[in-house]
Amino acid sequence: MSAKTPRVRTLMEEFTLNNSQLAEVSRRFLNEINRGLCAQTHDNADVKCFPTYVQDLPTGEEVGKYLALDLGGTNFRVLLVTLKAHHEVDMESKIFAIPKEIMTGPGVQLFDHIAECLYTFMKEQNLVDEHLHLGFTFSFPCQQLGLTKGILVRWTKGFNCAGVENEDVVLLLKDALKRRQVDISVVAILNDTTGTLMSCAHRNKHCKIGVIIGTGCNACYLERVENVDLYDGPSDKSHVIINTEFGAFGESGMLDFVRSEYDRFVDQASMNPGRQIYEKMISGMYMGEIVRLALLKAIDKKLIFTDSGRKPQRLQIVGSFETKFVSDIESDPNGDFTNCRAILAGLGIRNATDDDCSDVRYICECVSKRAAHLVACGLAMLINKIDEPFVTVGVDGTVYRLHPKFKGYMFEKMRQLVKPGIEFDLMLSEDGSGRGAALVAATVAV
Ligand code: BGC
Repeated sequence: MSAKTPRVRTLMEEFTLNNSQLAEVSRRFLNEINRGLCAQTHDNADVKCFPTYVQDLPTGEEVGKYLALDLGGTNFRVLLVTLKAHHEVDMESKIFAIPKEIMTGPGVQLFDHIAECLYTFMKEQNLVDEHLHLGFTFSFPCQQLGLTKGILVRWTKGFNCAGVENEDVVLLLKDALKRRQVDISVVAILNDTTGTLMSCAHRNKHCKIGVIIGTGCNACYLERVENVDLYDGPSDKSHVIINTEFGAFGESGMLDFVRSEYDRFVDQASMNPGRQIYEKMISGMYMGEIVRLALLKAIDKKLIFTDSGRKPQRLQIVGSFETKFVSDIESDPNGDFTNCRAILAGLGIRNATDDDCSDVRYICECVSKRAAHLVACGLAMLINKIDEPFVTVGVDGTVYRLHPKFKGYMFEKMRQLVKPGIEFDLMLSEDGSGRGAALVAATVAV
């Protein structure tokens, strides 16, 4: 990885975090996790570590037909999941759009929309007369008070529906289902990280961590109940899944020593300034924007596109440089700039030289690599905390799936940060949000 212009390299220097900085991030991270787990410090901790009430990992022998809703990722989906024992699963699903005005409109409208989509799906699948159980994957920070009670702490990822924060989202969903006369039992609410962990554990008994690197970023892990002050479940269970909500790490300034001016700008311009600081340095909702700001800086300093004469107008628009572009540009073989040129042309930059393209690619690489290294800090910290000889991490999310190098960057750095003597691997989750919702529903359904 190299930039053609030495000054571009200098500009991007702050994105390269060395191992001592990363080790310090991990150390602070562990401290925050422990503060989240401890009753006295929980309220002030950045990383809340919510107990989920999911305590049994699947055996692979689960059976039954379940509905699932998946809200909070790139798409909203309704699924019909059939668990068939012997680790086998069948799935039918349909994606529905959530228009921007619904994402930021009244909560009632959002839940009515969800109920309508569910009804449409049930009609198409001839399920209207069946009384099925439903698992609701709701991928926002919730304080769970039971398997069917989740209080939304706050919206993230561009959602901002009025009247939902501090409310029980299961109740809001049930009310909407009643209004639409849909006869369904909502038997569980879960986070997408829990779904990912469950779906990977369904296949692999070493899976103890679930992580999402998509529109947002978060992880959950299996913790011993004696380490969880807020645990109030049955005394015969040894473990509980903790939804760390680690995307919020950094809210009290603990990541300031590795944040750049672009990170601060992205945060200030977001719908939730001051929140989700770690997530904003990593996830798909923000990565393209960080690259855009760095490109603008390079243009401003006359380091790139110096032949083109005038400033590229499209690039001035917030969000014009999509995170997908970062993946596409880094997918070009070395020295080939086919995707890069097509993307730049789409942004109205038509006469980019090879050197410009190398520099654009270098900027993308610095931003995506830093994101992967920061995720590696969080995951290595959790693996070291679990402290078992072998841990599998279940992973999902568009950034992880679509970026050609993310997994490699992340794995290599994790290897350097995980304690000697512990082995780990990364397992791609097969549709964790849907499958996981059904698996959680299966553990409670009678
Ligand atoms: C949410 C988490 C979620 C993550 C990944 C974050 O913004 O707070 O609950 O797991 O995104 O979807």
